[in-house]
Amino acid sequence: MELTLKKNILLGVTGGIAAYKSAELIRLLVKAGAEVRVVMTPSAREFVQPMTYQALSGHRVYTEIFDAEADSAMDHIELARWADLVVIAPASANFIAKLRDGYADNLLLTLCLASQQPVAIAPAMNQQMYAKEATLENIRELGIRGIKVWGPAEGDQACGDVGPGRMLEPDGLLELILGYFSPGKLAGKQVLITAGPTHEAIDPVRYISNRSSGKMGYALAQAASEAGAEVTLVSGPVSILPPTSVRCVSVISALEMRDVVIERAPKADIFIACAAVSDYRVTNPATQKIKKKDTGIQLQLVPNPDIVSEVTELDNKPFTLGFAAETEDVERHAREKLTRKNLDMIAANRVGVEQSGFESDTNELIVLWPKGQQLLALKEKYEIAKQLIDLLADRYNAVE
Ligand code: C5P
Repeated sequence: MELTLKKNILLGVTGGIAAYKSAELIRLLVKAGAEVRVVMTPSAREFVQPMTYQALSGHRVYTEIFDAEADSAMDHIELARWADLVVIAPASANFIAKLRDGYADNLLLTLCLASQQPVAIAPAMNQQMYAKEATLENIRELGIRGIKVWGPAEGDQACGDVGPGRMLEPDGLLELILGYFSPGKLAGKQVLITAGPTHEAIDPVRYISNRSSGKMGYALAQAASEAGAEVTLVSGPVSILPPTSVRCVSVISALEMRDVVIERAPKADIFIACAAVSDYRVTNPATQKIKKKDTGIQLQLVPNPDIVSEVTELDNKPFTLGFAAETEDVERHAREKLTRKNLDMIAANRVGVEQSGFESDTNELIVLWPKGQQLLALKEKYEIAKQLIDLLADRYNAVE
C-alpha cells in the first residue's frame, strides 16, 4: 500500500498499557505524511507522559477540557473539525462504555460528542474485560452507529493472560488508516459469504454437524469489508461474533442456508462458499425426542443440495470462490473440484495438518484458478483472509 497520507489525524489515547504503542503509531503516521494531534485522557497520563507524544507529533498534546493555556486558534470544537479521522488507540473498556453512553467528562469524550468526523477505536484491555457481555455489547453498538472497530488482536497480554484484547500493532493500525483513505479493491461490490457448519436435525434435541468454527469465513467477511465491499454473511451456528461492519443472516440447516443464498446470489458480485455444509441430512427428523433403546437404531440420510454448485449454475452467476478441505493429494482434488463445481477460484487446505483447518486459529491455503495458483503460507486466519481477499480482488478485476 502506498505510504502517503496527507491527512489530519486526531489520535485519542486512553488509559491502558498499550499507550506505549501509540508513540510508535504517531511516528509511523508522521513518517507517512500525516499531521497528528494527540488528545490524552487523564488515565492515559498515568501510563505515558504527554512529552513523549509531543516530541513525536511536533505539537502540544491536549489533555484538559478547561485549559487556560489553550490557544484560542484550536479549541476543542475546532480540534474536532480539523480532523479527517479520529483514531482512539488504545480505547479502554471504560472509555468505550462512556463513548457509547454519550458522556463528556474529559476532553476526548467531549471531542467525540462534539464532532461529526469519522471515528475509529482500537480496543485494548484484559481478555476478561473484553469477554464481558457489557463490553462486547458496547463495541457492537458503537459499530452499528458507524464507528470503525479495529481489533482487538489475540495473544499474550501485559497482565500475563492470553486471549483477545490486545491492541492491534502500530503497523496494522497504520495499514487500516491508509486503507480508510484509499478506496479498497472491492469498493462498492456486493459480497455474499457462507460460513460455519450446518446442523441437521435428528430429533428436537440432536443433530448431525461437523467441527467448523466459522473463524475463516468470519475473517474473510472482515477482510472483504475492509477492502470496501458490502458484505452479507450467511452463517451456520457458531460461537463467535460477526464483524460489526457486515450484515449477518443466521441459519441452522443446509436447506435454510441454501434458500438464503439462492435468494441473494443473483444480486451479488462475488460469492464465497466457506461454510462446511453437511453433505447429508436425516430424511425424516423425528418430531419427538428419540428414546434410548437396547438395540441399535438406523438413520436414513439424503444428500443436501450443493449450494455452491447451484449458485454457479445461475444465469448471472457471481464470481465464485469455493473451498476444499482435503486429506491427501490436495492440489489434484482441488483442481478437479474447481472444474466440476464451475468455480472461478478454489482455496484448499489440508485437514488433519497441525495448525491448519477447522478449529485452528491459523491456516495455510493453496489457491487455484483456471490458469494459475498461489500458496498462502501458514498465518493467522485474519492475515490469510486479507491475502485471499487481495488475490480474489485481483482475479475478479482481471476477468471483469
Ligand atoms: O464437495 P465439497 O463439500 O468438498 O466442496 C466444498 C465446497 O463446496 C465449499 O466451498 C463448500 O462451502 C461448498 N459446499 C456447498 N454446499 C454443500 C457442500 C459444499 O456450498 N452442500
